[in-house]
Amino acid sequence: TQIVFITSDSRRIEIDAQDGLSVMECARRANVPGIVAECGGACSCATCHVYIDAPWSGIVGEAAGMERDMLEFAESVRETSRLSCQVKVAPDLDGLTVHLPDGQA
Ligand code: FES
Repeated sequence: TQIVFITSDSRRIEIDAQDGLSVMECARRANVPGIVAECGGACSCATCHVYIDAPWSGIVGEAAGMERDMLEFAESVRETSRLSCQVKVAPDLDGLTVHLPDGQA
């Protein structure tokens, strides 16, 4: 499943992500800059914050529960913000494009 990351300095990084893993895990494996993931995917650091591009935001859905609470600690949160450790890669997300927030490195 292909996922595209757009860095805050507008670089485009395409990765071939493994289904079943989180977007964060796939990004870390591919050394995508800007996905720090300090907590290792436990939904408790907010350093894996991404913006889900349209039209994917509708498919991926909004943050809920613990993730929504945790996003309050992230900077520059938007409606399309998600914590990438809470988004699971699946074939229906092929081509998913996410932007990385400024200053997350
Ligand atoms: Fe820490 Fe996602 S990796 S909240």
